[in-house]
Amino acid sequence: MPKKVSYSAKQEYLFKEKTTAMPEGYYSGDQPNPNLRAFVEQHLLENPYDPKTDDYDIPAFDRPIDTTKATAIYNMHTYWSKKPHDAIRQYIKHYTKPGDLVLDPFCGSGGTALAALIEGRKAIAIDRSPAATFITKNYCTPVDAEELQEAFEELKAKVKPEVDWLYETKCDRCGGKATTGYTVYSQVFQCPRCLRKVPLFDCIEVEGWTQAGKPKKIKACPHCYKKDQEEEIKTTGDKFGAIPVLVSYQCENGCKPKRNERRYNDPDPVKKDYFERYDLAKIKEIEGKTIPHWYPTDRMMHAPEDQECWGVKWRAGTSNFRTVDELFTKRNLWALALIREFALSSHFPNTDMLLGSMKI
Ligand SMILES: C[S@@+](CC[C@H](N)C(=O)[O-])C[C@H]1O[C@@H](n2cnc3c(N)ncnc32)[C@H](O)[C@@H]1O
Ligand SMILES: [Zn+2]
Ligand SMILES: [Zn+2]
Repeated sequence: MPKKVSYSAKQEYLFKEKTTAMPEGYYSGDQPNPNLRAFVEQHLLENPYDPKTDDYDIPAFDRPIDTTKATAIYNMHTYWSKKPHDAIRQYIKHYTKPGDLVLDPFCGSGGTALAALIEGRKAIAIDRSPAATFITKNYCTPVDAEELQEAFEELKAKVKPEVDWLYETKCDRCGGKATTGYTVYSQVFQCPRCLRKVPLFDCIEVEGWTQAGKPKKIKACPHCYKKDQEEEIKTTGDKFGAIPVLVSYQCENGCKPKRNERRYNDPDPVKKDYFERYDLAKIKEIEGKTIPHWYPTDRMMHAPEDQECWGVKWRAGTSNFRTVDELFTKRNLWALALIREFALSSHFPNTDMLLGSMKI
């Protein structure tokens, strides 16, 4: 039997009885919402608005907000500059009344829309990024938590053998089974003084100077530094590829603490040896295989094949990824493609919900 979901006192159980359905016209995508006009017109029918009699005059919210990001809902999905919906609820309550319509035209992960819905308001959430509206849609969709947990456990069991293979490594303390938590990659540059190739990870941070003579922290070549020379490694210089430099792993064999790490140039010879024999060897093994699951290879922002530069972030020689899959390491891309494939092929009641909760 799959485990039942347990709720700590801190965690809100939003949809206590029967899971409510989202209203008609609910939409997320990269095109204008075809139902938006009808939604607003319906709202105006129920809440007629006349600017002549509008006497809205709420003073600015001026109280400190005590909040936490440590909630299951907040942690459902990360986002740039994400705000806790619990804090936003206080603004919603202050500035609006139940039944009002709240608009967030830069919704990001949807915290404002969620806060509005929890407080009994209606919400319109807009973002130019379809990823943001996808996350928002799932953030705001009421789900049966037990059903979701069951679907998640089922999916987890299906993908586990392959995911275990992708991330398996060994603990350098007991020699037992371990799982890779994360791998740090570092870009390699060439030192203009000693001409040696240097990963940025190894550079020494020292006080340097800007061209205008102001003090600033710079990254110095570790080889030259040993000879009392502070030679700056500039990240604008030629790049020689990113290499794995650090692995954080979890021992599955009982070591305490469970987590530990090792480096490619670890001063401990055992750690250095394990890094090469297990971490690097696994990456190499994966590199030598073809990902057996479909993943999108679309150009970023669907730019035409003959277009060389596009998007506000494009810089010659720097933001040089071209396709969506280039944003991931091969191992992570493999795992995501695997999870996606199983989620889509299963009989899950709400695949969007599952993919959303799995950060895909
Ligand atoms: C800082 S994030 C918002 C984060 C949000 N408060 C949350 O808690 O997740 C800003 C958002 O504005 C969106 N954005 C930027 N320019 C936009 C535009 N012209 N129209 C719509 N959305 C835009 C970005 O895609 C991004 O998702
Ligand atoms: Zn161990
Ligand atoms: Zn040097």
